[in-house]
Amino acid sequence: MSNRTFTMIKPDAFANGHSGAILDKIIKSGFRIVSLKLTSLTPEKAGEFYAVHKARPFYGELVEFMSSGPIIAAILEKDNAVESFRKLIGATDPAKAEEGTIRRLFAESLGKNAIHGSDSDENAAIEGNFFFSNLERY
Ligand code: RTP
Ligand code: MG
Repeated sequence: MSNRTFTMIKPDAFANGHSGAILDKIIKSGFRIVSLKLTSLTPEKAGEFYAVHKARPFYGELVEFMSSGPIIAAILEKDNAVESFRKLIGATDPAKAEEGTIRRLFAESLGKNAIHGSDSDENAAIEGNFFFSNLERY
């Protein structure tokens, strides 16, 4: 069990002005911000990040959406970070996400679902390295 996970506030949540409320909720839920940046993904980079979904019917739409505007990328720390953060963000489809979860509160739809959370310790490390060099970590 690792104590770090990786997240992105997706373009819909950033554009809708939810970044502050989402970061507040993350911090108040006991996560420490290790690294954080406002950035954006080119379609190439978005495609690389979500390469695991390449064969899925929604891949093109996902890549287009994820490269449509600014995002906030962050590495977070807490005991049992990956599982604990997935619980905080809620189900992929906001209509199925539990009351009080970030997706339930801030997501627009299954595609535009406000936030990403790593699904394993291995992917948390890969995804963190995708956005941050070791020199940027505290
Ligand atoms: P994420 O990777 O972004 O944290 O989301 P997740 O684990 O909850 O869901 P995943 O299965 O990894 O899917 C990645 C993202 O693809 C979009 N999606 N669209 N239109 C669709 O049927 C569909 N299904 C998934 C969502 O934005 C999802 O977060
Ligand atoms: Mg996923």
